[in-house]
Amino acid sequence: MDAIVGQPLDRVDGRLKVTGGARYAAEFPVPGVVHAVLVQSSVAAGEIVAIDTSAAEGMPGVLAVITPENAEKLQADKGGEQVVSRPTLQDMQVLYNGQHVAIVVADTLDRAQAAASALKLTYKQDEAVTTMDSALNTAYRPKHFRGGARSPDSNRGDADAAFDAAAVKVDATYRTPIEHHNPMEPHATIARWDGDRVTVWTATQGISGAQHTLATLFGIPPANVRVICPYVGGGFGCKGSTWPPATLTAMAARKVGRPVKLSLTRRQMFTSNGYRPRTVQKVKLAADAGGKLVAIRHDGMSQMSMPSLGEFAEPVGLATEMLYSCPNVAVTHRLVGVNAPLPTYMRAPGEASGVFALESAMDELAVALRIDPVELRLRNYADGDEHEDKPFSLKNLRECYRQGAEAFGWSQRNPAPRSMRDGRVLIGWGMATSTYPANRRPAEALVRLQADGSVVAGSGTQDLGTGTYTVMTQVIADELGVSPRRVRFVLGDSTLPPAPGSGGSTTVASVSPAVQAACAAARQKLFSLILADPQAAGLTSADLRLANGVVLAPARRFPLSQVLARAGLEYIEGRGKTEGPPGGHSLHSFGAQFAEVRVDPDLGEIRVSRYVGAFDAGRILNAKTGRSQLIGGITYGIGMALLEETATDAETGRYVNADLAEYLVPVHPDVPLIRTIFVAGEDPVLDPLGARGIGELPMVGVAPAIANAVYHATGVRVRDLPIRIEDVLG
Ligand code: MOS
Repeated sequence: MDAIVGQPLDRVDGRLKVTGGARYAAEFPVPGVVHAVLVQSSVAAGEIVAIDTSAAEGMPGVLAVITPENAEKLQADKGGEQVVSRPTLQDMQVLYNGQHVAIVVADTLDRAQAAASALKLTYKQDEAVTTMDSALNTAYRPKHFRGGARSPDSNRGDADAAFDAAAVKVDATYRTPIEHHNPMEPHATIARWDGDRVTVWTATQGISGAQHTLATLFGIPPANVRVICPYVGGGFGCKGSTWPPATLTAMAARKVGRPVKLSLTRRQMFTSNGYRPRTVQKVKLAADAGGKLVAIRHDGMSQMSMPSLGEFAEPVGLATEMLYSCPNVAVTHRLVGVNAPLPTYMRAPGEASGVFALESAMDELAVALRIDPVELRLRNYADGDEHEDKPFSLKNLRECYRQGAEAFGWSQRNPAPRSMRDGRVLIGWGMATSTYPANRRPAEALVRLQADGSVVAGSGTQDLGTGTYTVMTQVIADELGVSPRRVRFVLGDSTLPPAPGSGGSTTVASVSPAVQAACAAARQKLFSLILADPQAAGLTSADLRLANGVVLAPARRFPLSQVLARAGLEYIEGRGKTEGPPGGHSLHSFGAQFAEVRVDPDLGEIRVSRYVGAFDAGRILNAKTGRSQLIGGITYGIGMALLEETATDAETGRYVNADLAEYLVPVHPDVPLIRTIFVAGEDPVLDPLGARGIGELPMVGVAPAIANAVYHATGVRVRDLPIRIEDVLG
């Protein structure tokens, strides 16, 4: 039988999704459910001095008005890098505009909304710091960088001395804006208590994380929290942590003694579950006359909330440490606190923003050296990870440059800015490198081989819309010799064997090996049953092969139904486990991004007209869902380059474009036909399937490829995203 893994299998949940049969968190029909609405602060800093709930409490259908004055006291959650237990109505302090200050519950949504708007809060307002750029002089060193696993600074050699002595230099500052994830599905939670046990249907990228956070906050054992989330309508990082709305829903359900549903509005999605913070990054590059890098310095500042909300440091310099061969490299990370919500991971956190700065600077260096941008990267190719001092498990970046350049037609590029035109329209070609870590975390899975030859399997993982159901089905089909149609893979329920959160492109490399191992364990049990049978005399397990519900051996066959009937079993169960990442190697994926832009010289309109991305991401388990990830990531990058920015009103600290009318994301006319290439190769180290996650990789390097193309088209270097019409108009 041909391998199913690798094939462009249609999504196994595709039909359910397009027919509306896939149930998302807000859609579970929980009997007796009542409705909650959040109330948010209208000031950016200060204190609540009075809360008048009388009008709201007297309104029809109102079941509870929960404020810091009557909210249940929660246990502290100190979960590593981020602490998102606040603000959950634990005190009267206000640290940003939009902070949750109350939750109102009523029998219908309309009545809850009406009561929420009748709540009267009085604030004592303090002076707020509302923009990062006004507070750069307050930058401080992160205290828990990467969860405390390493210093926010790193050094090899002497970058400053080498820079000062070098022949050719670039010294520039790059800026990226606040961006919001904006998944199609807003966050939603339904919570129901049964005694001291709670069930939550919640939109999350991590059911295990939600289970543990809620257990900690409510002071109950994790086994008393059941989290259910079979479908997620996109996350991109904003559903990676358990944010206050989920906690407040559970608090409200306990208070009213009924199941409670809370669904965020699009506007609330801008203040309730993190965002990509603004960054200000200084990059210095220096090279010898031959284009060999002699010094790299990357000083990154990222915007934070006020520190008492927790800590999130955008790790902009991590790719800079390893992407190129260079003897002198210095990286620093600093934070600037403002009266804003806590930022968080957003698709390719760190790399998306950091590689924009690094790869823009590399383009500036190529211009200064008069060397082709691809050639400059090849002259500085890192054969090993010079930061970790380890070999890469697999690095086919040279092939990405070669195949990407060839598919794009890069050799036809005239390097002079403004030299390529189509009539009056300026054409620009730009490129950049992509990289993202290849992650793996411990995961478990179980598989049941049933008498009719069908398979039911499960793991407490998630499908963010990326294809987890589908690729796990493919792995099982191959391992157990069964048609994908006869496999049912379940996920998104914390009663299943535990798996990591789906963040950091981790699901495929973590969960598929556990599923594969569970299949092997089930098959081994089946073979042992057969070998114990007198009819199998003389056979060993090496003689046996499972296909379509029958175990085949030379001149003999053992239908599963008979084997199970004889053993008195309904099914054979196997369990499998993946450990954390293997040591000894640096684990990264790579890619090469090539963009063509067309710029109207009179109107400044910038269109991405052609795009090629070539990626080295190990073995691809599904050619179709894999390609969809690449298209989605590149589209996300086009948004970062040209459209996306959350704007803050400096006076009030309020986001002024908190909706999809004014927060611009790419739509079909903004996106050209995207050519994607997977460079062949299997990762021999990361996991037994040779696969790596690809959720984030394709968006890294898109923004600089486009910015570099805009420079090539116009001669204008834009170092501040998003690139706007006014940037390129003389
Ligand atoms: Mo991602 S930002 O790791 O969901």
